[in-house]
Amino acid sequence: MRKNLAHMKNDISNALKQSMKNIDSYTHVRGESIYVDDVNVREGTLFGVVFDALKAHGKIKSIDYSNAEQLEGVHRIFTYKDIPGENQIGGVIPDEPLFAEHDFHFWGQPIALIVAESEFIARQARRLIKIEIEELPVITTCKEAKKQGSFINTHRSFNLGDTEKAFQECDYIFEGETFSNGQEHLYIETQGAYAEPLENGSIKITSSTQGPTIVQKTTAKVLGMAMHKIEVDVTRLGGGFGGKEDQATPWAVMAALATFHLKQSVKLVLNRHDDLRMTGKRHPYESTYKIGLTKDLKIVAYDVEFLQNSGAAADLSPAIAERTLFHATNSYYIKNVKTTVLSCKTNLPPNTAFRGFGGPQGMFVIESAIAKAASEIGVSPIKIQEINLLQENDEFSYGQIATEVEAQNTWDSAKSIFDLENLEKEVEAFNATHQDFKKGLALMPIAFGISFTNTPMNHARALVHIYQDGSVGISTAAVEMGQGVNTKLLQIAAQVFSIDSAKVKIETTNTTRVANTSPSAASSTADLNGKALLKACNALLERLKDVASEELKTSKDNIIIKNESVFINTIKSDLTWTELISKAMLKRIALTENAHYATPIIHFDKTKEKGHPFAYHVYGTAIITTTIDCTRGTYVFDDVKIVHDYGKSMSEGIDLGQVEGALVQGIGWMTMEEIAYNEEGKLLSNALSTYKIPDIFSVPSNIEVIPVETKGNEMAILKSKAVGEPPLMYGIGAYFALQNAIKAFNPKYKLKFHAPMTPEKVLMNLYE
Ligand code: MOS
Repeated sequence: MRKNLAHMKNDISNALKQSMKNIDSYTHVRGESIYVDDVNVREGTLFGVVFDALKAHGKIKSIDYSNAEQLEGVHRIFTYKDIPGENQIGGVIPDEPLFAEHDFHFWGQPIALIVAESEFIARQARRLIKIEIEELPVITTCKEAKKQGSFINTHRSFNLGDTEKAFQECDYIFEGETFSNGQEHLYIETQGAYAEPLENGSIKITSSTQGPTIVQKTTAKVLGMAMHKIEVDVTRLGGGFGGKEDQATPWAVMAALATFHLKQSVKLVLNRHDDLRMTGKRHPYESTYKIGLTKDLKIVAYDVEFLQNSGAAADLSPAIAERTLFHATNSYYIKNVKTTVLSCKTNLPPNTAFRGFGGPQGMFVIESAIAKAASEIGVSPIKIQEINLLQENDEFSYGQIATEVEAQNTWDSAKSIFDLENLEKEVEAFNATHQDFKKGLALMPIAFGISFTNTPMNHARALVHIYQDGSVGISTAAVEMGQGVNTKLLQIAAQVFSIDSAKVKIETTNTTRVANTSPSAASSTADLNGKALLKACNALLERLKDVASEELKTSKDNIIIKNESVFINTIKSDLTWTELISKAMLKRIALTENAHYATPIIHFDKTKEKGHPFAYHVYGTAIITTTIDCTRGTYVFDDVKIVHDYGKSMSEGIDLGQVEGALVQGIGWMTMEEIAYNEEGKLLSNALSTYKIPDIFSVPSNIEVIPVETKGNEMAILKSKAVGEPPLMYGIGAYFALQNAIKAFNPKYKLKFHAPMTPEKVLMNLYE
């Protein structure tokens, strides 16, 4: 990115794109940003704590709340019996009660909500609840679930070509098993909501959610109320990563339920322990594959079965399973593909969306298959990867024809810009001269489809007010969660109106201003909401040009609004932006616009499992180098060098932040973050002392990101492609770099595909 800055600086129209810092940085560093826990609470606000199951599966024989209820300061304890509507929060499949009734299915499943004068009192009360249960058998793994026929829904399968026939013509066939573990979202702001009573039985919820409409809709359903009586407001989230797409909902509904009954404000913010125990994570996957290649290393057949550990309820599992199939071949073209996914019902907390949404799990398997094939054949995996890269007009297993493909381009660019040949030589030379330390290198290409795979979700709206002093207020469905979407939205408005960015304000995300929204997810938030905003701003601009044309008595075609002034072609008139707005007011012109955007082109037929589900794909190639300490098993990532497909980045700083953050999160998932449940379904990695995420010392010593030269994509906002999820998958390369380093030390090491590759595992593999 740094290298290309020079030529981009020459592009004047990009001036705003270059200069815009994340608009939240000022309040973030001053501690003034408002999260749920910072909302000014009303006098008399009460506090909730959730009482949950402390076994993974069983029947509830009896619960005695009396001691807890009698504790001073406790107002009331709510259970399923207090639900006026439906005790149901399942979004995709109605299989998840808000509160357990007669049985429970995971350790941490909510049973009741204790509401008290303080959180401290509510926690004390929780310890006084007596519960009698009958334990039932617990399933924690996919294999066991499969054996018992325990599934969430029917299996899905995407097919291309004739896989069985193709295997008969292969020179090489390899089979294997892989495992990738879950991942804890570890948003800095834990789950939480604040509910307050409004007039006439309405309730306002301030929620830390990626999906305000999901919260609104589910609350209405549970309370048996109309949606218009529930207002959901989101200022920003302290991180979401998918963990607040669906799983921000129960806490908001619980707070609203208490407010409904007590007519008082109720705040419910989970502490870290409760959050870790009660919420689902990235899905662990157990998969088996069979890969077939010809003599010239062309992959011609690939058959894979993914077992997804969905947990105890559907949550978003079916949609996540679907995306695993969409990304099962990553950025490769394979003529004959058979992919199947089984969503396995287990007694873990319902696993949920996590950056990449099943895509990374799919990609880990194909990369494993390639590594295995390379090792058996005795060639470099890089060779197999390269020979099979997706090309223009290749067909994905789901029928979409790949266009504007940048797989080869990013691959070749990475190789040449970073001088791969030399990097490989350096690694070899280092390994030849060092005994106690070894280096490993791997390449990781990515291709990630952009759009919600559920076509009907690809829409958004924007509401724009130009106030009479010329300042602008914007509401959309976009939820700011640290990804910088608000900065991008602000840029769009400031650019279209050509006004100072200080004149633009991005409002909170609120269901009364923008309704029926899709969650901020699928990397699509800036595209969908940005396009709607662009439409609204352009409509207003046209209207303002009419006003200017009348005022200046010239044809509208001659009017240009630039730098807060009206120009007649190149001549600056006396009319300023502010005056133009005043004139429009006097002429009674509407200074408000509401626009709707729905992604064109996309479609998908689930009966055939074919279609064109993605607006476009994001491509890129990473080269990852690691050094392992062969005495200790510890490692560092020296270098990650990436050529990334930003399209035409509209916001370089923010996009680079997304690439770096996603990469590190991907490396964490693949190498150090180890979720552990015991056989009884109890979460063992239940604190930051037992669950290690990357810190500043474990990020790569050097991350270099260069944008690939491309014309950008019209389906992306201002040709600037989605960036939230795709770079996470560069992190998968870290796993294979580590294996290569281990192999350099221990030639007898047999490749294993069981992520994460923790330092303990590295150590054991070094001396295997
Ligand atoms: Mo995101 S994993 O699509 O919430």
